[in-house]
Amino acid sequence: MRVHLNQAIAKLKAGEVVAIPTETVYGLAADATNESALRQIYTIKQRPADNPLIVHIGDVAQVPDWASEFSPLAQQLATAFWPGPFTLVLPAKATVSTIVRANEPTVALRVPSHPLTLQLLKESGLALAAPSANKYTQLSPTTAAHVAAGLGEEIAILDGGACQVGIESTIVSVIDNNWQLLRHGMITEAQIAAIAGKPALVSTAKLPKAPGQHILHYSPKTPVKLFDSLAALIAYQQNSTNTYAALTCAALIIDDNLSQPLSANFNCIHLPKKADYVAEHLYESLHRLDALNVAQLLVLMPPSAPEWLAILDRLKRAAHNV
Ligand code: TXA
Ligand code: MG
Repeated sequence: MRVHLNQAIAKLKAGEVVAIPTETVYGLAADATNESALRQIYTIKQRPADNPLIVHIGDVAQVPDWASEFSPLAQQLATAFWPGPFTLVLPAKATVSTIVRANEPTVALRVPSHPLTLQLLKESGLALAAPSANKYTQLSPTTAAHVAAGLGEEIAILDGGACQVGIESTIVSVIDNNWQLLRHGMITEAQIAAIAGKPALVSTAKLPKAPGQHILHYSPKTPVKLFDSLAALIAYQQNSTNTYAALTCAALIIDDNLSQPLSANFNCIHLPKKADYVAEHLYESLHRLDALNVAQLLVLMPPSAPEWLAILDRLKRAAHNV
């Protein structure tokens, strides 16, 4: 069910959930101070209760409502990357619902840049807890149609078009004057280090891991198999088709040009080797390939360069079931 901005605000204020657009992926939002609304998120997503939610705020000035500590380092990062695809995990105030933070001593905060959702946050004055608007472990939605297909037509959706970043935000934990990368996203570790003036702390017992980094995150229903070369992918596809008539494949090929021709009956999506472009179209492509109901999705991987790390992370998780 599509709703307008004013209907979305009314529903959220009444303790209902609404799917909202962000620049990364669609979120399933609820008033972050309303515990019965927060419980609905977990129920609809079938998400384990020990996986905390990101709180979306309209302005950096709201951070002290949620975090007990907003260190100079955290402030520098917020100034550099908000509004945008960047989430800060900070020590939580005791007043933050334990449902939002899944009993962690920290809270995750983000000011998103999608204009419709920024308007919603500013006009309503609400802070919105919102995980990605998909069932637990499935592919994240980057259009309103993906949300309706994954969660059902009865979910209220504020349609803000296709998401332009396309994969989930970078998550960074800041405690005192140190930072740690908890999830790769399109804001890279190098960009963060440049603002922080120092590299990430690699491992310390003091900093939390993102509890939601389930290895089976971001999975299409179809099993995914990864390849480093087009020749190997094509050989596998041809061998599969010859060997088992029933085993059909489709492919996602991330490469600048196709160095080898593909057979005419092979369903492929070809994306050029540009990380921002691939991120924007990654989930849309996987949703489309998944809908073909083939036996396997074959993916030609991009290179292991820094700008590709977030995409490689999502593809490796998508492939974990094979
Ligand atoms: O781009 C995004 O981040 C999207 C949009 C909707 O904002 N949201 C999103 O939410 O990807 P979700 O719930 O699918 O992933 C949030 C991740 C989970 O891995 C969760 O464990 C982690 O953030 N997280 C949330 N609060 C945390 C906390 N206090 N400490 C550590 N990790 C936290
Ligand atoms: Mg998610």
